[in-house]
Amino acid sequence: MKIRSIVIENYRNYEQVKLNFDEKLNIIVGDNAQGKTNLLEAVYVSGFGKSFRTNKESDLIHFDKEFGSVRIEILKDNGLLETIEYRILSNNKKAFLINGVNITKISELLGTVNIILFYPDDLKLIKDSPQERRKFINRELSHINKIYCLDIIEYSRILVQRNELLKKMSYKPEFKDMVEVWDEQLSDKGARLIVKRNQFIHSLDEISRDIHSRITDGKEQLSVKYITAVKNRDNYDTIKFELLDQLKKNSEMDFRRGFTSVGPHRDDLEILINGINIKSFGSQGQQRTAALSLKLSEIEIVKNEVGEYPILLLDDVMSELDINRQKDLIYAIKGVQTIITTTDIKNLLDDYINDSKIIKIKNGNVIGH
Ligand SMILES: Nc1ncnc2c1ncn2[C@@H]1O[C@H](COP(=O)(O)OP(=O)(O)OP(=O)(O)O)[C@@H](O)[C@H]1O
Ligand SMILES: [Mg+2]
Repeated sequence: MKIRSIVIENYRNYEQVKLNFDEKLNIIVGDNAQGKTNLLEAVYVSGFGKSFRTNKESDLIHFDKEFGSVRIEILKDNGLLETIEYRILSNNKKAFLINGVNITKISELLGTVNIILFYPDDLKLIKDSPQERRKFINRELSHINKIYCLDIIEYSRILVQRNELLKKMSYKPEFKDMVEVWDEQLSDKGARLIVKRNQFIHSLDEISRDIHSRITDGKEQLSVKYITAVKNRDNYDTIKFELLDQLKKNSEMDFRRGFTSVGPHRDDLEILINGINIKSFGSQGQQRTAALSLKLSEIEIVKNEVGEYPILLLDDVMSELDINRQKDLIYAIKGVQTIITTTDIKNLLDDYINDSKIIKIKNGNVIGH
């Protein structure tokens, strides 16, 4: 799929912008604080239904305005043209329209357009707590699999109810039977999540190993391991059985601590280079390249699952890569529509600049393209 155009009204520091994109490479150039990331963010929110920088919708509206909107036009590989429009009001209300029709649930938006973003904060994926890695898995899987998206919402809802009950049990022991009702539902949804996560991480491991090896000239072997509560991760029935068993075994402890100690809400990813955990031992450069390899792997995973390449947004990535790594990146994104930002076009390899659309940004205005 390709994004053909964007129409922006009162979004961040933009008032009115209309822009067409090239099918291959688009380079957004501008000084600091001119609106480069804002433009990528506008594309991103149209596909994801929320920003990667804020949870407050009203932040997205131009400071002086009451209403903001972004409309993108997507050309699917089958030749169909779709429009997605995102409208935000200053009281944090928002609305989505697909081909002019209002949608009521964000989950309906998922899969309409697939976008992969790489931006400096993605180092968190490597360096921060397991929660960041679970967010990554959930975000990526939700996007390629609507059922996963619904399952994770349902799992989280059941978990909250079980935890509330565990807290109450300290003064009413008869709640204990009720916890078992939640256990059944939790292990059902939990097993569904683990099966999907296991498949996803398996693909991620294989594909990212190849990409990372290419980017590092064969010097580094990347591997990604799934850390979860159960031993068998392939079969729904055995996972469910094992989860249920563990929930029962730990219920006394959960009751004392007031929260659920086992299940996919405690999952993690272990990311290794040449067998060494890079969260603890990797250099900055290794961590950055590993994060990039994982992101680039998603391109292939989306292609395999959805049948179309996603759109790639790269914020401030090039300046951090040396010439060889930039070259490998070009190779890895062949055939993928890409929008990148940079403060200085001189940081980029000539191969990028020839054959691309340059979009110059100044103070929330497109001053040349
Ligand atoms: N809701 C808003 N209304 C108006 N202006 C906003 C709004 N939100 C952010 N801005 C302005 O947008 C500017 C930041 O834009 P952006 O993050 O896109 O910059 P950038 O070009 O990516 O810069 P850098 O090169 O430093 O990353 C800030 O100066 C900020 O004041
Ligand atoms: Mg920026």
